[in-house]
Amino acid sequence: MQLSSLTKDKRNLLASMSLEEKLGQLTMIRPDAAEVRKARAGSILDLQEPGSIHKLQEVAVSGTRLGIPLLFALDVLHGYGTTFPVPLAEAAAMDPALWEATARAAARETAAAGIALTFAPMLDVARDPRWGRIVESPGEDPWLASRFAEAKVRGFQGVALAGSSAIAACAKHFVAYGAVTAGREYAPVDVSNRTLHEVHLPPFAAAVEAGVATVMPAFTDLAGVPMTIHKGLLRDWLRVRHGFDGVIVSDFNAIAELISHGVAADIVEAAALALNAGVDIDMASGAYLAGLPEALSRGLVPEADIDAAVMRVLDLKARLGLFEQPFAREDAMRPGDRQSHRDLAREAARKSVVLLQNRGGVLPLAKPVRLLVAGPLADAAGEMLGPWHAAGQAGEAVSYLQGLRRALPDWDIAHFEDFAAAGAREAAGNADVLLLCLGETAAMSGEAGSRAKPDLPDGQAALLKEASSFGKPIAVVLTSGRPVMEPFLFEAADAVLAAWFPGSEAGNALADILTGKANPCGKLPVTWPAEIGQIPIFHAQRPTGRPASELRESSKYLDASVAPLFPFGHGLSYTQFAYGGLRVSPEAVGPEARISVEAEVENLGPAAGEETAFLFIRDVTASVTRPLLELRGLAKIKLDPGQKGTVRFELGAGDLAFPDEDGSPRLEAGAFEILVGPGADKSGLLCHTISLALPKSSAPS
Ligand code: GLC
Repeated sequence: MQLSSLTKDKRNLLASMSLEEKLGQLTMIRPDAAEVRKARAGSILDLQEPGSIHKLQEVAVSGTRLGIPLLFALDVLHGYGTTFPVPLAEAAAMDPALWEATARAAARETAAAGIALTFAPMLDVARDPRWGRIVESPGEDPWLASRFAEAKVRGFQGVALAGSSAIAACAKHFVAYGAVTAGREYAPVDVSNRTLHEVHLPPFAAAVEAGVATVMPAFTDLAGVPMTIHKGLLRDWLRVRHGFDGVIVSDFNAIAELISHGVAADIVEAAALALNAGVDIDMASGAYLAGLPEALSRGLVPEADIDAAVMRVLDLKARLGLFEQPFAREDAMRPGDRQSHRDLAREAARKSVVLLQNRGGVLPLAKPVRLLVAGPLADAAGEMLGPWHAAGQAGEAVSYLQGLRRALPDWDIAHFEDFAAAGAREAAGNADVLLLCLGETAAMSGEAGSRAKPDLPDGQAALLKEASSFGKPIAVVLTSGRPVMEPFLFEAADAVLAAWFPGSEAGNALADILTGKANPCGKLPVTWPAEIGQIPIFHAQRPTGRPASELRESSKYLDASVAPLFPFGHGLSYTQFAYGGLRVSPEAVGPEARISVEAEVENLGPAAGEETAFLFIRDVTASVTRPLLELRGLAKIKLDPGQKGTVRFELGAGDLAFPDEDGSPRLEAGAFEILVGPGADKSGLLCHTISLALPKSSAPS
């Protein structure tokens, strides 16, 4: 296969391209060999099968005038063939090294299929469990989401994009998609400038800083400006202020949907608005091919902008090594990789499970017991993969029941979908423990998966009620893409494990947890509301002039508590950890100071375990109200029973700053609380106050 000499020099290549060939490079479509042959597509999405990918690449490099290779793209959010836990689950692992490792493994499998771009990581800070895409998110905290962004970009892109196992990452959905009105999918978004800079933009800044190759604007508007045409954020903030020089790819059909948004009268205007805002690739709408020629002739867009967009696309393909070796990635997998990825998936699933409650120490099932396993998710291997599972196959996933039977071949494990089945009630009467596998199917989560009542789906509360009638200990494995609000669940069940969608190794990982072979260490990356009516509820709430108190005239409800069911960072263990000995130095700091924070953690309980300690700050008095808690660090420590250890953090004075109206970091003198502990329940945090002094000259007005 001989590439034309032109393709080796992009500038000459650009000069040789017709307008249609240029617009073809700005067009991403679902597989269509005829369009590729006519050079009317430069990238292909949603083709998964390696043989088909190879064939279509051959059409492009050998069957077109210029032989420009295609960029193949797919939503590989948490695994290609091996499915890792969904992003919200992985966030619960609170483990940047793990996040990077699973992205690296996913990149290797994806590259081996011939795909060189993933539409991931999704970086929308999400604080509304009604929104289906919370499952794809790193949770409610911008600091955590920023660390997630860095780890995933490093994992997917490796040390060099041209590497045979490297794939380009895509920071999406830019920006504030997680703040859709009422948690309703694709609904309008309207957040303040301060919230935009404080909550929603930081993960994207982190992704750009980490070198992310592409960015995808959200479907949604922001205060009336659809993100697909948001010049202020796409050009000024992303490209100019943060120096992003990669490719901006629209979301699916988003350019054409500008007409539905009511900001474009027709496809010509839609195409012009998107190109002028800086969108390089039109995904699946055909707007650029259909609308830009007339937009050009009507003077709505300069050809220079088209050329600039084409150069960015050609540059990405060159950085990926596609011109020199369009098929190099096919050799990305090495002997043993497949098994090591499965092992990693099992480790990731173990670390992502959150033990929400464990009344009476029902778990772990440390000695042989007669187990009755029931519920719609008990033997549903396919559901374990979650809503975005790329090439993951149900047949290769391990259900909870399969995992338990494999781990405990000598145990008496009965399985019934429900208690209506013949023999089920008798089995329940004979069982020592009832294990109910409840929750959502994958289709109840993810894109277009918003739920106005995110409770236990139909019939499951009744199943749980019936299980309660047997008077036996009940453990629930909850599969879901979000916090599930069902008060009865937490009343009736003794133990509840939030398993999210654990991926290919679900059953093996849960068996490890249920039997105590692994001690659960996951921590909630989202606040778990007690009531739907509390939404949105999250740890970084701003204070109010009338904090909740026993006074009627205070910030509270007449008919519900203001406290969440479980706070951000909540997660039990089979052992107990105690915190003490907080040390912060220096206590008086200047703008260049490095602040050292240490605390002692002790394992008081019967089992070895891993604890995640969180570092929060609270800016006590500032020129604007500051959140009650702001996450600024996490540290993990493994301790044997009786062992004590030290967790250490380091802060720069810059970590005490907050974004000004235009997003510039603003540092103000005054008192800051430094807090360390197991989660965002302030009553459980060690606290020490330091003071920041600023030279007169630098003190803000
Ligand atoms: C979808 C999603 C986006 C995804 C894209 C391609 O509609 O919004 O996250 O990457 O289309 O599948």
